[in-house]
Amino acid sequence: MSTAAAGEMTSATAQLPQHELMSQFAQHNGQLLVGGFSLSAISRMLNKTVFYAYDRNIITQQVQRFRQALPARIKLHYAVKANPYWPVVQHLKPLVDGFDVASQKEMLLAVQSGMAVQDISFAGPGKTDAELSAAITLGVTLNVESVSELARICRLGQECGSTPQVALRVNPAFELKASGMKMAGGAKPFGIDEEQVFAVLADIGAMPLRLRGFHIFCGSQNLKADALIEAHQHTFALAAKLVAACPYRPDLINLGGGFGIPYFAGEKRLDLTPVGQSLNALLQRYHDDFSGIELVIELGRFLVAEAGVYACQVVDKKVSRGTTYLVCNGGLHHHLANSGNFGQVIRKNYPVAIGNKMPHSNSSTTFETVTAVGPLCTPLDILADKVSLPQAEPGDWLVVYQSGAYGPTASPQDFLGHAAVTEILL
Ligand SMILES: Cc1ncc(COP(=O)(O)O)c(C=O)c1O
Repeated sequence: MSTAAAGEMTSATAQLPQHELMSQFAQHNGQLLVGGFSLSAISRMLNKTVFYAYDRNIITQQVQRFRQALPARIKLHYAVKANPYWPVVQHLKPLVDGFDVASQKEMLLAVQSGMAVQDISFAGPGKTDAELSAAITLGVTLNVESVSELARICRLGQECGSTPQVALRVNPAFELKASGMKMAGGAKPFGIDEEQVFAVLADIGAMPLRLRGFHIFCGSQNLKADALIEAHQHTFALAAKLVAACPYRPDLINLGGGFGIPYFAGEKRLDLTPVGQSLNALLQRYHDDFSGIELVIELGRFLVAEAGVYACQVVDKKVSRGTTYLVCNGGLHHHLANSGNFGQVIRKNYPVAIGNKMPHSNSSTTFETVTAVGPLCTPLDILADKVSLPQAEPGDWLVVYQSGAYGPTASPQDFLGHAAVTEILL
């Protein structure tokens, strides 16, 4: 929805253009539907007035978008951190080829989903001995983040009486340009620097472990096909050199991920067609280098973010010196990312709507410029700043789109002691 000057009120007969980033959900008679249900219906199901609702069909469609555009040779892993809600993990289990986890808790989720352990990888700096031992015992692949972690893995493997399955995470010299978060190139806590890794490979044949391959993850939240294509070109070239330097043939190369989703006005969905075409060309060019080796792309938000909304209710409406506030019962304690405090440099509004007053062709809608805030006593608790929305009153539903990733588990839920948020997959 467009931004308008504070206090401005406009009347419009709907048939208003649907915000491009809000087109994935159906609506009926002015009600937004998630999985076919209105927010009031979901509220009755849950007996809650604040919740995250995820639409399973939209998750499935995102997997299909990936499968249609990318070569079948490229496997798809889901990064559980994006949304570890158990029904979401279970829904994705048969749709993807593996899971990437970032903690022991996520690893146990992944294992209990029934995913084969050889298709689960565990990445992240600072893994404790307990986490490493658990992964070694299970046979989960450890993405090794440093030379000293590798030494600990060897020792713990012997103590556990199991052969550790490892992939060396490499911090390449190149970076993934135009990423929301850069995780490679330069000094990084992630992975072993490209300049060091060849020396490690020279010794690895004598180590008590099985080297499965490599993990080259450069960044996240990227909407630029050109930047991803360039990173894939560098990644294939580096991976070919790494494979050639291995004492025996590895069986896995994780090419990273980083496919973004549009959050803000003016952003466009990532065009996967050129990314797929480029990968096809790279597969041909490096056919012999990678024959028999599994190639993986690992994605989190791309698969789940567009499938989720955060819904809360307007509790109070007030005007302060010309600004109309919708004070809601949900806020940054449930949805830190939407408040702009999870990596944004300048806060921008996620797409929002009044979920029980969706403009539709048979209605005339009066719009009003409002700022929607949460119940926390901090100026950071902003749900949407100066947005034009259908005129709302207490009891109406404020909905934040693009909320299926990095929601409840990426938010400070205990802050100020408000109730934790509920989730549902429909
Ligand atoms: C190693 C690794 N894999 C996957 C992801 C998921 O990123 P995204 O949700 O942007 O796809 C991240 C994000 O930080 C990561 O660090």
